[in-house]
Amino acid sequence: MARFAHVTGWGMAVPERIVTNAELERLVETSDEWITSRTGIRERRVVGKQDSTSTLAARAGAKALERTDLLPRDIQLIIVATCTPDHLFPATACLVQDQIGATRAGAFDLSAACSGFIFAVNMAAQAIRTGAIDNALVIGAETLSRFTNWEDRTTCVLFGDAAGAFVLEASDRPGGVLSAVMRSDGSGGDLLSLPAGGSRMPATFETVEQGLHLIQMNGREVFRFATRVMASATREVAEKAGLKVEEIDLIVPHQANLRIIEAAARGLHMGLDRFMINIERYGNTSAASIPVAVCEAFDQGRIHPGNHLVLVGFGAGLTWGAMALQWVARPRVGTTRDRRRRRLLAGLARLASWVRRVLRRLEGLFWGTEHHAD
Ligand code: ACO
Repeated sequence: MARFAHVTGWGMAVPERIVTNAELERLVETSDEWITSRTGIRERRVVGKQDSTSTLAARAGAKALERTDLLPRDIQLIIVATCTPDHLFPATACLVQDQIGATRAGAFDLSAACSGFIFAVNMAAQAIRTGAIDNALVIGAETLSRFTNWEDRTTCVLFGDAAGAFVLEASDRPGGVLSAVMRSDGSGGDLLSLPAGGSRMPATFETVEQGLHLIQMNGREVFRFATRVMASATREVAEKAGLKVEEIDLIVPHQANLRIIEAAARGLHMGLDRFMINIERYGNTSAASIPVAVCEAFDQGRIHPGNHLVLVGFGAGLTWGAMALQWVARPRVGTTRDRRRRRLLAGLARLASWVRRVLRRLEGLFWGTEHHAD
């Protein structure tokens, strides 16, 4: 029997702290007028000390799960798409797995920058369709503020922090993920990068002094590339799904620059009203931008069961991609009792994680060296 991968849950998390264009005017030589007219961004969110990519991701993931009948322990796979992971390793997805108590899930990160969420949903959907797994939690999460050079006006005005998540589940009902396009061009890797901190350029005093652990971007080149690929990837993915462009109810583009979205709309001969746009409040949140925009589109009543959606994005790598979806989920309204139960389970998961850490230490203290000697 044919299997389909449906989006059954969705959730988002953003930090409380808002940084307005007016605040940036005090940091670098810029103006609210320049930022809004050249990018469409009015404000962005920035994490506080207590948060990181994994904590935002865990919050978004838990919210997405609340819309489904699944509990964290039912989840079989967690993929976190991010280019700002908590560490080089362990994977941020493993930290999320531990934080939410998804004790039976395999977890890994996927690095495709702003296209990462589309790539990750595609990977999970394929695993569901083959029958390898029945469900997955896919999260796009970023704390770009931690890698932003706050003295560089050409980049610091653009980025923000956020996380968004989908729960995907197997079903025999047609719909869900219909088609996907994934593309890369590594020859443009230097156009947008974080040069130091990896194996090619390990951290030294010099790399820190030269700001090589912070985002470097050739904005004009990235802009040209983005305007080329957004419309073409949308057409290609629609065709693969057997849809005419006119049949797409809503396009949810990566929110990098309003002018890039406007160019895509012109290229597709579509009105901007068929695009979800929320860049003015969050800026570019890389892998988080598409799932966050889907959550807000849903809350604004712009997504209904039966609708055809196209998600489309581009980013560092260079990478770009698109996905056609038929939305079937109706929102599940969790009861207070359900929410309490989930809070209790989350508390128990944290306790169990702490107990496992303590036991591992004790085991090491009492038996670890003896075993080694054997
Ligand atoms: N405030 C005031 N002036 C500025 C600012 C600023 N914040 N930033 C740049 N300028 C100046 C430049 O110095 C330049 O001045 P000059 O002409 O004297 O040299 C002038 O404005 C024009 O600069 P451009 O780079 O031509 O400006 P442009 O209209 O191209 O806009 C921008 C720049 C917003 C960065 C645009 O190129 C863009 O959005 N590019 C794509 C970025 C993007 O999408 N990145 C994806 C990241 S996704 C990921 O994977 C993380």
